[in-house]
Amino acid sequence: MAKPHDHDYDDNFIDSLGRPLRDLRISVTDRCNFRCQYCMPKEIFGPEFEFLPREDIMSFEEITRIATLSASLGVTKFRLTGGEPLLRADLHKLVSKLHEIPNVEIALTTNGTLLKNYAQLLSESGLNRVTVSLDSLDDQTFRQMNDVSFPVKAVLEGIETAGHFGLGPIKINAVVRKGVNDHTLLDLAAYFRGTSHIVRFIEYMDVGNSNGWVMDEVIPSSRILSLIGKIYPLEELPSNYSGEVASRYRYKDGAGEIGLISSITAPFCGNCTRARLSADGKFFTCLFASSGTDILKEIRSGATDKHLIEMLKSIWLRRDDQYSELRTKYMRLSPEEKKIEMSYIGG
Ligand code: GTP
Ligand code: 5AD
Ligand code: SF4
Ligand code: SF4
Repeated sequence: MAKPHDHDYDDNFIDSLGRPLRDLRISVTDRCNFRCQYCMPKEIFGPEFEFLPREDIMSFEEITRIATLSASLGVTKFRLTGGEPLLRADLHKLVSKLHEIPNVEIALTTNGTLLKNYAQLLSESGLNRVTVSLDSLDDQTFRQMNDVSFPVKAVLEGIETAGHFGLGPIKINAVVRKGVNDHTLLDLAAYFRGTSHIVRFIEYMDVGNSNGWVMDEVIPSSRILSLIGKIYPLEELPSNYSGEVASRYRYKDGAGEIGLISSITAPFCGNCTRARLSADGKFFTCLFASSGTDILKEIRSGATDKHLIEMLKSIWLRRDDQYSELRTKYMRLSPEEKKIEMSYIGG
């Protein structure tokens, strides 16, 4: 099979800043069994919170239709996200449908709690790889980050099972919050050293409106790099593909690789090829957007493929998002402006 990201597509199909569309992140549910403080704080996403009603959620057929059209426009990677995507019943059936679309890679971002149960089925259905969110190996710190009581050990078992069923290279995503989990980062790196799994440290971002983000809680990736590099010397690696979010580093002794995702201190909007589809079928051209285009509404009112393609094309051609760059350049934060929550739009 040809490698995704290596295709020739219409060079003229680029947004207003010259960026092609390559990566579609599909949220399959806005629900989650965690309440990570940086994403779905309990105070807001508590028992009173109204998640999307079932009838507003895209069916697998609807998702597949949009995915197929987006592939014809140049998308080479689908990433299934949520909320927690494994809470969506029969997710493997969606994976099977997406797997029929030629020349695309299918990845999944999960908190790992249900991975042990589903890894085999997902792999057999055509899932290529998983990324598991795991902020600490220390149970108490893990709990402080996600506000539920769930043992780290069970997530580690999920990762092991996923590896066993060929869902690698597995990436482990750790959001870093100063004073909360930063004392456990070296342990996390050490644990996965010597395996093929890649731990990626993510700067805590001002995504959404509910997490009460402040700059003081961000630890710059450069600090993490020196913290780990001092104990286990590292050297930079080239990107795997244009537009890759993480910067890559390898252990000089050959014990594997880590990644740093620096959307606060070194934003990467310049080659951002990502679009997002919320669970209720709205198409967003930036993680920090305040609104999206309701594709599902069009589908449910009988739109033809031709019409849908024209719609997607015109949205992409107009796209000028570069939120993270502008935030860094002008320290332009707009807390008064309503941003979409990450659990809704998908990580
Ligand atoms: P690979 O396909 O393995 O390269 O993964 P990826 O980096 O595309 O996906 P992943 O979902 O693992 O992204 C890691 C993290 O980077 C996310 O959880 C976000 O915190 C952050 N991130 C991903 N995409 C964007 C983006 O478009 N903008 C910003 N600001 N942050 C992003
Ligand atoms: N900052 C950085 N990363 C975040 N994620 C969720 N919220 C934030 C935030 N505020 C990441 C999670 C997970 C993915 C779905 O998004 O760690 O890996
Ligand atoms: Fe759930 Fe992921 Fe958000 Fe945590 S970051 S609350 S695991 S969707
Ligand atoms: Fe892309 Fe928006 Fe993230 Fe920039 S802030 S990398 S434009 S999603």
